[in-house]
Amino acid sequence: MVEIKSTNVVWHPKKVTLEEIEKRNGHKGCVIWLTGLSAAGKSTIAVETEKQLFDLGCHVCLLDGDNVRQGLNKNLGFSPEDREENIRRIAELGKLLRNAGLIVITAFISPYRKERNLGRSLIEKGHFFETYVKCSLDECIRRDPKGLYKKAIAGEIKEYTGISAPYEEPDNPELILDTEKLDVEQCAQAIVSKLKESGII
Ligand code: ADX
Repeated sequence: MVEIKSTNVVWHPKKVTLEEIEKRNGHKGCVIWLTGLSAAGKSTIAVETEKQLFDLGCHVCLLDGDNVRQGLNKNLGFSPEDREENIRRIAELGKLLRNAGLIVITAFISPYRKERNLGRSLIEKGHFFETYVKCSLDECIRRDPKGLYKKAIAGEIKEYTGISAPYEEPDNPELILDTEKLDVEQCAQAIVSKLKESGII
């Protein structure tokens, strides 16, 4: 739970509305929230989706866990509390960017339902797409592109998601992408189709 220390602050109104921005952009703003185990394919799908949307003329912002943790969130580790703060900041950032008219793609493990639901609660209904990048733990361990599962299994990394820390599967995601069955292009196309069906683009 975040302690609120920011008191005596007053919301300052803007002159440019989201409707005006969306009219100029030719598409709506939204948040595509990718969640799944490390090595499930979130970052790869995010990068491909960003490219496909960019080529369609959309305004996109990609927030990737490993990248954001090297800057904005470099002061956070992997305890449940730090992961909660990691996701809280990304949820708030996603809201700000979505309200600037962007299609925001987030690629974080985001292992806890509670935090993903916080992200959802900040975004207007119909503009938040929880996307479960599904892959079995066995296959993630087999892929192990960064060699981190190997270290986690050997006990060299503590609190590693799937090995020594939990991952709570989504209950009712807008989209499920099974990366043991679909390739990266098919996954990105499924996201683009979902945005078309939903009237975002
Ligand atoms: S989250 O759980 O807080 O959402 P996030 O997506 O930002 O995680 O970061 C996950 C990335 O950090 C992984 O892809 C991996 O490269 C790296 N990492 C380092 N330590 C851990 C750990 N203990 N658990 C999971 N990922 C870790």
